Amino acid sequence: GKGGYDHYMLKEIHSQPDALTDTLSGRVNPGDGGVAFESLPDGAFADVEQVRLVACGTSYHASLAGARLLRQAGIPAHAELASEFSLPESADDTLAVAVTQSGETADTLGAVRAAADAGAQTLAVTNVVGSTAARECDDALFIRAGPEIGVAATKTFTSQVATLSLLSRRIAADVGADAPGDAGILDGLDALPGDVRDVTTGDAARAIANRYRGSDAYFFIGRGAAHSVALEGALKFKEITYEHAEGFAAGELKHGPLALVTPDTPVFAIFTGDGDEQTLTNVEEVQSRGAPVVAVAPDGHPAVDVADDHLPIPDTVPTCASLLAAVQLQLLSYHAAELLDRAIDKPRNLAKSVTVQ
Ligand code: M6R
Repeated sequence: GKGGYDHYMLKEIHSQPDALTDTLSGRVNPGDGGVAFESLPDGAFADVEQVRLVACGTSYHASLAGARLLRQAGIPAHAELASEFSLPESADDTLAVAVTQSGETADTLGAVRAAADAGAQTLAVTNVVGSTAARECDDALFIRAGPEIGVAATKTFTSQVATLSLLSRRIAADVGADAPGDAGILDGLDALPGDVRDVTTGDAARAIANRYRGSDAYFFIGRGAAHSVALEGALKFKEITYEHAEGFAAGELKHGPLALVTPDTPVFAIFTGDGDEQTLTNVEEVQSRGAPVVAVAPDGHPAVDVADDHLPIPDTVPTCASLLAAVQLQLLSYHAAELLDRAIDKPRNLAKSVTVQ
């Protein structure tokens, strides 16, 4: 059942501390920071020279974060939309990672099958044991988020990114890459369940949703670790409110989207400690066109003084801060949809699992 919540989505947002605890449990050696996955033999990725993550929708946004972490760890990696995936005839040096909550998304299965045909090693990162992706790929890595009923992916997004953070360390260790990666990520992940609880027990998102209801459009911007969360924040907002929402790389605004910005288009700017000074410049650009800005940032961050409103997140490393911002934006979308009396758990035109290409 909904466990006392009005919607599965809200229950699932609030269950993220427990989901993340399960995702991470027993996978990091506290001594040396090494990562071990129950289902994967040691050295499983020793021959990998590059990684292609294939996914759709929210899982694609998680993949963008995963690819970025892999590159920071010194591994060539890209996230690609499964429906647009193509690769060279021979891909023997490639690990293709299907990132899919359900493990049944036709576009994602099609992409990972094409990768296998080209000789790639394949890995499913999925929530569903026994799913098609888990069965068909060479290996499977489970995100352990628990069943997700709401059509809008929430807890599976944060658990996917947490899993991919560990996977990037594991691949780096297997191939002997020595780049430092995201410094402090293990401490950040350790604190993440508690930090998420700080966000879910707050009430800022509801007030902001109410303040900006009836706007012409809602824009979300971020760079670095915050870019994928800007895209995800907009996807969540549009799919359950039916309002126009777009996510942009903060630096791209001035290359076109700025033409859309007016006093009736609130801009949610995400600050994760990754290129924040430049994003502040982008905030000034939209404010000078009259747009109200909501800073998603830690208390005391310089953006809080500049912005018109604030959605607070705990102060932590960029990847974890981006997940805390994602949780604030899940709550924002939820409350905005509730104010509009939308069918939150089953938005119009959408299905939980998309099994046609
Ligand atoms: O099951 P999958 O992760 O493969 O699903 C992919 C997308 O259909 C999915 O992430 C979708 O974008 C979300 N449900 C939106 O909230």
